[in-house]
Amino acid sequence: MRYLSNGTGKRISKIGLGTWQFGSREWGYGDRYAGAVAQAIVERAVELGVTLFDTAEIYGFGRSERILGRALGANLESVFLATKILPVFPVAPVVEQRAVASANRLGARKLDLYQVHQPNPLVPDRTIMRGMRALRRIGLVGEVGVSNYSLRRWRAAEEALGSPVLSNQVRYSLVARAPEHDLLPYASARGRLVLAYSPLAQGLLSGRYQPGNLPANRVRARNPLFLPGNLERAGELLSVLGEVAAAHSATPAQIALAWVIRHPVVAAIPGASSVEQLERNVAAADIDLSDEQYQALAAAAARFRPVTGAAAVPRLARARLGR
Ligand SMILES: NC(=O)c1ccc[n+]([C@@H]2O[C@H](COP(=O)([O-])OP(=O)(O)OC[C@H]3O[C@@H](n4cnc5c(N)ncnc54)[C@H](OP(=O)(O)O)[C@@H]3O)[C@@H](O)[C@H]2O)c1
Repeated sequence: MRYLSNGTGKRISKIGLGTWQFGSREWGYGDRYAGAVAQAIVERAVELGVTLFDTAEIYGFGRSERILGRALGANLESVFLATKILPVFPVAPVVEQRAVASANRLGARKLDLYQVHQPNPLVPDRTIMRGMRALRRIGLVGEVGVSNYSLRRWRAAEEALGSPVLSNQVRYSLVARAPEHDLLPYASARGRLVLAYSPLAQGLLSGRYQPGNLPANRVRARNPLFLPGNLERAGELLSVLGEVAAAHSATPAQIALAWVIRHPVVAAIPGASSVEQLERNVAAADIDLSDEQYQALAAAAARFRPVTGAAAVPRLARARLGR
């Protein structure tokens, strides 16, 4: 495992574990996953040196936090524990009460990173940051983070907090490269971090799914990347991933992760549906891509033009109706 070189007290692994999948019906992994596999994934992750564990109060409506906390057990103190608040009514007393509730579900004395899950379009950050400051004062929260924030809003959050907001958790992968424009340069210049979610594009970059073999769950039924036409368009990128993977005796998913975390301020938090996937994801931390391989992947990614946004809506609706 490799670790970020930032100034936090605890080490943060370059490959973390995302736990939206834990106990969330929309991933459709079932009871055995929530009851046994998730626990085994967490235990193996700890054994392999993963320290970054990401959850949220909204995942499985608290179930993810409970499963993660139980699985970490005595390791809760040594890992870098990150959760998120959904800022629905983010006045200070509510923020404080919700942090306590998350910590209770996790069984943790401290939340190492408490993140605002997404910007509230109506309420400015000074409201929520008042609560965050109080939580830091009493020692329940270590670092404050944000998620899905633009650079402008990230900076506004820092001003409101009166100190650095350590990280911005955003979608970042070979097929979602917007953070390269401003978030990564900002994080590099200021000693901040970018936590890459959906680093495998929810499994697309594993190469496992094709127009005739679509994943069956609600999360990916809503994701336009899994429209048959887009899977076809992804063919060239997947074939470059396959070539680089062959050169490293690795899998395309591992190369996709190695590509994301090559940037020094980035840690990735892939989810996993099995212990084997977790093990592979962890091993990706040790893959060194050459400059040539990195650029070839970036170039193939730039040529991938999926149909997304409003244009994808009727196609998604048709796909759901099976037509
Ligand atoms: N802040 C936010 O708004 C936000 C949004 C989304 C996610 N997140 C966080 O980011 C984490 C990860 O994002 P994500 O779950 O959306 O997407 P992801 O990590 O890109 O994809 C996870 C899925 O990819 C497949 N997979 C994982 N490892 C694999 C491997 N080695 N080989 C082949 N397939 C593999 C698994 O699905 P199958 O085996 O079923 O194919 C797994 O469920 C979440 O758990 C959550 O903690 C945060």
